[in-house]
Amino acid sequence: MNFAEIKKLEEQFQLATYAKMDIAAERGADAWIWTSEGEKYLDLYGGHAVCATGHCHPHVVESLKKQSEKLLFYSNLVYSDIRAEAAEKLVSVAPESLTKAFFCNSGTEANENAMRMARMATKREKIITFSGGFHGRKADSISATFLGKYREIGKPNVPGHVCAEFGDLGSVSSLADETIAAIFLEPIQSMAGVREAAPEFFIGLREICDEFGICLIFDEVQTGIGRTGNWFFGGSDLAGDIVPDILTLAKSLGSGVPVGACLVNEKVSTKIKTNDLGTTFGGGMLAMAAVLATLEAIENDEMLGNAKAVENHLRESLQEFQNVVALHGKGCLLGIEFSGKCAPVHAGLLENKIITGTSSDANVLRLLPPLCVKIDEIDLLVEALQKIL
Ligand SMILES: Cc1ncc(COP(=O)(O)O)c(C=O)c1O
Repeated sequence: MNFAEIKKLEEQFQLATYAKMDIAAERGADAWIWTSEGEKYLDLYGGHAVCATGHCHPHVVESLKKQSEKLLFYSNLVYSDIRAEAAEKLVSVAPESLTKAFFCNSGTEANENAMRMARMATKREKIITFSGGFHGRKADSISATFLGKYREIGKPNVPGHVCAEFGDLGSVSSLADETIAAIFLEPIQSMAGVREAAPEFFIGLREICDEFGICLIFDEVQTGIGRTGNWFFGGSDLAGDIVPDILTLAKSLGSGVPVGACLVNEKVSTKIKTNDLGTTFGGGMLAMAAVLATLEAIENDEMLGNAKAVENHLRESLQEFQNVVALHGKGCLLGIEFSGKCAPVHAGLLENKIITGTSSDANVLRLLPPLCVKIDEIDLLVEALQKIL
């Protein structure tokens, strides 16, 4: 099918819920995709922050091929070698206190299970989240999302969600007491325009949680699995070395195979009993093969170090641009803030066959490239920006 035929069929048979680029992705390798028309695009959006290992990483593809010839799926009613290995590997790269994994299918589902676990562990209901955070589109996670229109389109909202100001410990202290089950946040607010907070903020949150017996939950659906140049934001120097009680993951975790996870410490895991949580597809064999191979590929190809090198290189390269106000974010989760709206830059880059993303801050262009993106590919972005700006 050519592009016109593909577009016509999708528009005829799919609900029109997405604003799409005028291309059809057909195949990919590393940080590149090829379209139905044979054109090549540099993907600095990583398939929506998902393809951390690059498109079709050979180790991931090989592992999926092997697993699909053995067993595609059986639920958690049976034990499985690949699930055992994936869980062991995931826990082995996590901060030491996070000792158990719960597998599900998406970021939203991981977040909803995390909030449920916090309520179960504390026997409380209220959750503090933050202005500008995004946590997903199902009832509980959309109710925890104090960004733009989301709570409005998610009505009726789940009760008990209260909102503090991101980066402002005083606003958290004024809400925190013994009725709060969890403080729940994206440690770098990606969709809001890659907004960051100082390590002291996270240290303060940990102290408040310890004082009132509140669970600290990090939504690491975007920041996790190496994206900031650390395996996780929690436990890294970015968080002042503090570790949350629960950490949620999805996106990069399966290199494109849908999978989500919660990592929890013993304080929480000891409170969770048989049948408290569950999902049919969570922990399926194909998804587990993807998780294990993704973690191995990131490790084998030293992608954490590469993500940091990419950030440093771009930071330096952008200094020559007068209309770049700041580079926000860490590693391969970056937001270029322009002095004006970024929409024309986003469109100009697409014309130059470079895919980037926008954010809910009209001036911030988001980059979420594969962690294996090369320095000379970042130079292609810089050259295109020189042309456009
Ligand atoms: C920080 C964050 N949390 C949660 C989600 C929801 O994840 P999913 O779309 O896999 O349900 C997203 C999705 O963009 C996200 O960026």
